Amino acid sequence: MLTDIERHELEDALKHYPDKRAGAIDALLIVQRRRGWISDDSLLDIAQFLGMTGDDVDSIATFYNLIFRKPVGRHVAFLCDSISCWIMGYEQVRAQIKKHYDIDLGQTTRDGRLTCLPIACLGHCERAPAMMIDQDVYGNVTPEKVETIVEKYK
Ligand code: FES
Repeated sequence: MLTDIERHELEDALKHYPDKRAGAIDALLIVQRRRGWISDDSLLDIAQFLGMTGDDVDSIATFYNLIFRKPVGRHVAFLCDSISCWIMGYEQVRAQIKKHYDIDLGQTTRDGRLTCLPIACLGHCERAPAMMIDQDVYGNVTPEKVETIVEKYK
């Protein structure tokens, strides 16, 4: 069940939409910010609030990379695996994260600090390879820079 605070936040955010359903992504992000990820129960709560089916909301959540349908760590590192980044060293950056933090794509460090996920083009192709941690985008990432970047996120 949505909390009063969540319900209030959703009503406030969705009042600008002519139809509540158009704000499904916003609704998912709001609830995810409070709960860390979108469980099946959360998804149904949101669907009910929006007057949509669970399947409809699930297809939006699945399509949108920034909605987590499984628990994630305190921080999420998104590695761009689209063409420019792939050519410019995505594999080496991924390998460095694997080596240093012992996680590959889709995995979370044992201390729950960091989850690593793939993402399509971040729009920073001229600075490939790019990665995003939480909301911060980094370009020209090299294996040598990985630790310095990730260590900002405890
Ligand atoms: S291909 Fe990676 S940012 Fe565009």
